[in-house]
Amino acid sequence: MQYAIVTGSSRGLGEAIAEQMIEKNVNIIAVSRSENEKLKKKAEERKVDYFHVSCDLSDSSQLDEGLDRIMDIAFNEDTHYVYLVNNAGVIEPIDTIGNLDADAVQKHIQVNLTAPVLIINRLIKEANQKEIRTFVINITSGAAERSVHGWSTYSTTKAAINRFTETLALEQEGNGHKVLAYSPGVIDTDMQGEIRSSSAEQFAEVDKFKQLKEEGKLRSPEEVAAVLMDLINQPDDIENGKVYKLYDLVEKQ
Ligand SMILES: NC(=O)c1ccc[n+]([C@@H]2O[C@H](COP(=O)([O-])OP(=O)(O)OC[C@H]3O[C@@H](n4cnc5c(N)ncnc54)[C@H](OP(=O)(O)O)[C@@H]3O)[C@@H](O)[C@H]2O)c1
Repeated sequence: MQYAIVTGSSRGLGEAIAEQMIEKNVNIIAVSRSENEKLKKKAEERKVDYFHVSCDLSDSSQLDEGLDRIMDIAFNEDTHYVYLVNNAGVIEPIDTIGNLDADAVQKHIQVNLTAPVLIINRLIKEANQKEIRTFVINITSGAAERSVHGWSTYSTTKAAINRFTETLALEQEGNGHKVLAYSPGVIDTDMQGEIRSSSAEQFAEVDKFKQLKEEGKLRSPEEVAAVLMDLINQPDDIENGKVYKLYDLVEKQ
């Protein structure tokens, strides 16, 4: 049996990835604070197992408990392959340094960085003990590679996840795991709505992002997920540890 652990599957990109995993007949372990009835129904129709692990990833005790539950489900006696998609993410706080809300910074780092690091840490331990192969996909952002006014925390956590992805690939070379980071471009999700609602003092590029929406330049989560699925469906071609960018992948098509 194959399982896909998908964090942030309640909406946006995570929902689209989980949906397309179900279409691939992969059993789903959905991790988020809110449940997604549409995914549950789709899994039932396709006769695919679907588990929702309700977990606030910004809360370390909920993450600990959630991790036990996720690993119990993912590594059972019939498991032969496990995907992990670290997709859950937050953009807030959007503000300049000096004006950052301390609580929002801590929650941000916990969701965007600490949680994926700890989930991967447990996954690799369990998988190597049980000799099960995994495919780790970390959702990153172009902001990892450039400094963006107002996005210091976001750029920092995404840059860190890129480095963690490379280090994981380096350490696990020869163990049969696949690992990559996926930079999905701009997607029409709630996160973009939050970005557009910032003030120009908080985020200097706000008008550019409003314009992208007005000009219909945001991709749908389904399209962005499909590009990722095409990539992971050719595992032998994957360069472990690499940051794959949607823009490069669609250019090749
Ligand atoms: N949208 C873009 O243009 C864009 C561009 C580049 C990269 N990305 C990346 O793509 C990924 C998905 O973004 P999106 O645009 O789909 O975002 P979104 O629509 O805002 O959805 C975020 C998801 O993360 C989950 N999440 C947030 N906080 C959480 C918490 N404390 N605990 C558990 N789950 C939490 C949410 O679930 P609940 O609220 O139910 O908990 C939701 O399912 C993120 O990593 C983001 O950084 C997005």
